[in-house]
Amino acid sequence: MTKHDLIDAARAAAAHAHAPYSRFGVGAALLMTDGSVVTGCNFENASYGLSLCAETVALAKANSEGRLRDVVEVAVIGGMIGAEGLTGAAAVTPCGRCRQVLNEAAQLGGRDLLIHCAAAEGGAVETYRLSELLPYAFGPADLGL
Ligand code: THU
Repeated sequence: MTKHDLIDAARAAAAHAHAPYSRFGVGAALLMTDGSVVTGCNFENASYGLSLCAETVALAKANSEGRLRDVVEVAVIGGMIGAEGLTGAAAVTPCGRCRQVLNEAAQLGGRDLLIHCAAAEGGAVETYRLSELLPYAFGPADLGL
């Protein structure tokens, strides 16, 4: 599976975003150790602060299948929701809370996750290690796990 395949899966998931408040759709796709892909999209709420990001939804799905430790790579894509799909040329990087949630999977799995951050339009992709996006992370290891 190439990074472009994973980004395509994230884009497909973003089509299901429930984002009527921000109108900003995000999709995330997790590449797992067995080659399968777990996806998520953002899930907003009328009580704005309860909204869930795409990455967190995907990670909760993986965890619910007993696979939190099996995440290898992540793709994220997002943009304003237009009539013909997402718009915007800026690569979407995970928010701070999502970086911390990603770190749970990374530390427990013993992998520095590769994170592909894609733009809705124009083909921009920025790839980072989680350790670049969240240096000096606090995580399971600090609590003895
Ligand atoms: N969002 C994500 O799903 N992931 C991120 O990493 C950035 C932000 C969502 C949250 C909210 O539904 C919308 O994008 C606008 O912030």
